[in-house]
Amino acid sequence: MGFLVLPEIATLTTLQPLAPPRSRERELRTVHRTPVHEGLLATMLHPLVIGLGRSGAGLHLRALAKARDAAADLFATGPPLACDTDPAARRAASDVRTVDSVSAAAELVDPESTVAHVCTPPGERVPVLTELAVHGIRRAVVEKPLATGLEDLAAVRQLTAQHGMDVVVVAHWLDSALTARLAALVRDGRLGSLRAISVAQHKPRFTRSAAGGQHPTAFDVEVPHSLGLVLGLAGPAELLDADCTDMHCDGTVLPRVGGARLSLQHRTGVRTDIASDLTAPVQERRVALEFTRGTAIGHYPISDRDDHAQLVVAGRREIFRDDALTGFVLRAYRDFHREFQQEPGQDCGQDLQRDRGHDAEFERQCEVVRLVSEAKRHCASAPAAVPGADGALAGAAAERIADHAR
Ligand SMILES: NC(=O)c1ccc[n+]([C@@H]2O[C@H](COP(=O)([O-])OP(=O)(O)OC[C@H]3O[C@@H](n4cnc5c(N)ncnc54)[C@H](O)[C@@H]3O)[C@@H](O)[C@H]2O)c1
Repeated sequence: MGFLVLPEIATLTTLQPLAPPRSRERELRTVHRTPVHEGLLATMLHPLVIGLGRSGAGLHLRALAKARDAAADLFATGPPLACDTDPAARRAASDVRTVDSVSAAAELVDPESTVAHVCTPPGERVPVLTELAVHGIRRAVVEKPLATGLEDLAAVRQLTAQHGMDVVVVAHWLDSALTARLAALVRDGRLGSLRAISVAQHKPRFTRSAAGGQHPTAFDVEVPHSLGLVLGLAGPAELLDADCTDMHCDGTVLPRVGGARLSLQHRTGVRTDIASDLTAPVQERRVALEFTRGTAIGHYPISDRDDHAQLVVAGRREIFRDDALTGFVLRAYRDFHREFQQEPGQDCGQDLQRDRGHDAEFERQCEVVRLVSEAKRHCASAPAAVPGADGALAGAAAERIADHAR
């Protein structure tokens, strides 16, 4: 895989660092590794993919295969293990050993060397992480969003702290080559100071929304990717405004999943506007950075089918390979592996540095959940915009959104 774009994440995490409150606990845990682990030090990491839907089977297994091609020394040999409660999903998966539950998977793995990929719907985070903790599996790559509301987030925080879990949220836009270039523009001041960011995340999502699923609003689908990005580029922010629209199709109305829009004010003075239309006829993932002396426009790859990004600065367009998810997986495994191989009592300096990186990322994803929850609360307190619908539907929509903001 000579063309693999390796992550340039350091540029982004150093740009706008967030406090790492979880480090101390992992510091203690690392220093006090027991001799039992010594026999395992030569062992490689075992991926365990939980949930074989679009994300688990379509994205993670593929990214794992590419990451293994690029760095075989990190991974145990043999096909990865995966679990899904749905027999059809298990049957459809190839090049993977499958079981029907986390506990069945836990019987087959060494928890210390296992990295769980939590690719279940967002409402399943707490039960799945709880099961992992019960079975002693502490390393996890968790799909976005980390939680669907503040109550869930508090439960996730408590679990990870209590069991010393090392959770990395899939925020692969931060590992993207395009993001590294945008961060460099912010840092080097070539176009002056950053004034505003606008993001468009549009795609038609009728079929999946009609099928139900656990994305309660349009805020939960695409917006977590861009929120992580703008917090990384422009620092901490507060919500200014938000709204959410319904999806109308063939005489059916699906409340709150048609589109989402929010505005943020960053403490650095930068303003961000994010819009995600899930009824759009075309797909687009566009970010525009407005500086005092010019504008940079980036296009993230729209799917894993063609992972090329584009950047236009001063009328000059660059096109480049940008396999951010594989870059993200590689970085996460390198970090996990470094900690896994730490000899008991060994100087933990590098390990703690890595932990601080994970903690800062975790905190940023908690901020993403907080801002999404605030946006949902803001929308719930506004009159529900359901053209032509009766009050009962509008009321149910508002109730549902308030529920998921908690
Ligand atoms: N990072 C990305 O670009 C990206 C893309 C797509 C989805 N996602 C995220 O990934 C997550 C999953 O989304 P999806 O589209 O793959 O959903 P999906 O509905 O396609 O698949 C989820 C799978 O999880 C299984 N499952 C549910 N509960 C389970 C449990 N307790 N144990 C084992 N299996 C269980 C289901 O049977 C299903 O097969 C969501 O949070 C979504 O936002 C991220």
